[in-house]
Amino acid sequence: MSNEILNQIKELTKNGRVDVPNWTPKTAATRFTDIADIEGMRTAGRLAADVLDMLLPFVVPGVTTDQLDIIAHNHIVTEQGAIPAPLDYHGFPNSICTSVNDVICHGIPNTKALKKGDAVNIDITVIKDGYYGDTSRMFFAGEPAPHLARLCKVTQECLYLAIKMVKPGTRIGDLGAAIEAHAHKHHFSVVEEYCGHGLGTTFHGEPQVPHYGTSGTGTVIEEGMTFTIEPMINAGKKQVKHAGKDGWIAKTKDGRLSAQYEHSLLVTADGVEILTLRAEEDFS
Ligand code: MF3
Ligand code: CO
Ligand code: CO
Repeated sequence: MSNEILNQIKELTKNGRVDVPNWTPKTAATRFTDIADIEGMRTAGRLAADVLDMLLPFVVPGVTTDQLDIIAHNHIVTEQGAIPAPLDYHGFPNSICTSVNDVICHGIPNTKALKKGDAVNIDITVIKDGYYGDTSRMFFAGEPAPHLARLCKVTQECLYLAIKMVKPGTRIGDLGAAIEAHAHKHHFSVVEEYCGHGLGTTFHGEPQVPHYGTSGTGTVIEEGMTFTIEPMINAGKKQVKHAGKDGWIAKTKDGRLSAQYEHSLLVTADGVEILTLRAEEDFS
């Protein structure tokens, strides 16, 4: 059964990554009022979410993260007519981030096969017509152990409860405070070194969205803002160590597990629209 999928993966990846076409960036913005811009953000968000759905059947024991990178890259370029934003971004060598087990974020795909029981965060950012969509989720090779499943569930709850708070008038510090409280209630820690971020016609802009903090502080959220929330939650201590090319790879210092989920959001007149929502997600 899983041999069949591994053969399909081999076939899909045998020629490596296709070339990326040239493209022209738009002027950097992370807040929009024009419907054309909002539609551009909706399309980019949907494409990024679609890549996660497309990858699901390929995340099996025996697949390498390099293979997942090639499959995602070729899908983004060939099927979506989009650009994988990570590739060559400040020297990042691949088209997706694959963060396995104790890797917190910015994992660089490699030739090592996933083993039964591994968890991997796959983070997809696409650029479509100059607009960015950025989203990530956890995947499991085989059944996750109960402690891993719990960490991932709580991490997704941290993301969801923060999203539910987003509306004009909420302050950025309110989000981090709520995320931190939920993580700590479960005796997990919050990574402080990496934050959510404004995104739009640029990858990383204002506002910075820490996943810790104090309610009633920080930027006041306004209609039309587009930003991500992407909590990284550790089973052990919050401290980070760096590895890999240019120190890109962030790992837990204590070697324990880390999980992350990310969505791209648009602030509406009275709430929030999740630009990267997947069909399987229940957001009522
Ligand atoms: N997608 C990541 C984020 O959520 C950023 C990855 S930067 C890269 O912000 F270069 F590593 F791809
Ligand atoms: Co992001
Ligand atoms: Co991301």
